[in-house]
Amino acid sequence: MGALDDVQLGPVPEERYGDVIQHLRHSFFADEPLNSAVQLCRPGEPHAELEHHSLSTLADGLSQMAVHVATGEVVGVALNGVQRPGDLKAAQAKLAGLADLKFRLIFDLLYSANLRLDLFAEHGVDRLFECRILSVDRRFRGRGLARALLLRSEEVARQHGFKVFKEDATGFFSQRVAESVGLRAVSELKYCEHIAPETGEAVFKTQPPHESLKIMVKILQ
Ligand code: ACO
Repeated sequence: MGALDDVQLGPVPEERYGDVIQHLRHSFFADEPLNSAVQLCRPGEPHAELEHHSLSTLADGLSQMAVHVATGEVVGVALNGVQRPGDLKAAQAKLAGLADLKFRLIFDLLYSANLRLDLFAEHGVDRLFECRILSVDRRFRGRGLARALLLRSEEVARQHGFKVFKEDATGFFSQRVAESVGLRAVSELKYCEHIAPETGEAVFKTQPPHESLKIMVKILQ
């Protein structure tokens, strides 16, 4: 049996949105390097803002999931959405009204780093294909599943005529997977250099080997 013969990849139908959220509560919500650094969630815990972010991305209809054939469980996802000019500023403005300070810190970092670039002008486009959440069940990691989900997502982006495929890769493994399918870092922010003025300490004390945020891009011709 090949490494991925026991999983099936495909789009996410609406009736599986709840299962995707369930998967994320046990994987991404707790394990993603920034979430983990601020202890955003314990494994299995819900998170209202992250769930809203995930569901609004699913509504774009571009996401992919991996289902374990034997059990029907969702064991991996690439949640992909469309970013248009003005979206980040609008999202950043809404952050101030959110109750969860940890969530605000993470998304403020992501939005600020992205707002320093102008991928729309640089590539002459009015929409970007964005892989916002890449997540694999702990029991299925290290077998190339994230890579397969990214490759599928790239196919979807091409089918929908996108020119720019991007991802904010927040940790070492997601950066390695992205590089392996041809994404390149267009900006890098080292977590140890992102200091809170009040404390003089790093805002995100990530676990090794996660050292930086890389905004990664692939141009699809
Ligand atoms: N230790 C060492 N290397 C590892 C490990 C590990 N624990 N896990 C993966 N890798 C390596 C793999 O060997 C591979 O590198 P290679 O191609 O040079 O051999 C690379 O990292 C990733 O390989 P995959 O098997 O395709 O990745 P996987 O299916 O394990 O999923 C993922 C990677 C999604 C990052 C998973 O670890 C995860 O869900 N982490 C928690 C959530 C997260 O951090 N998501 C990404 C944040 S960025 C974003 O969402 C846009």
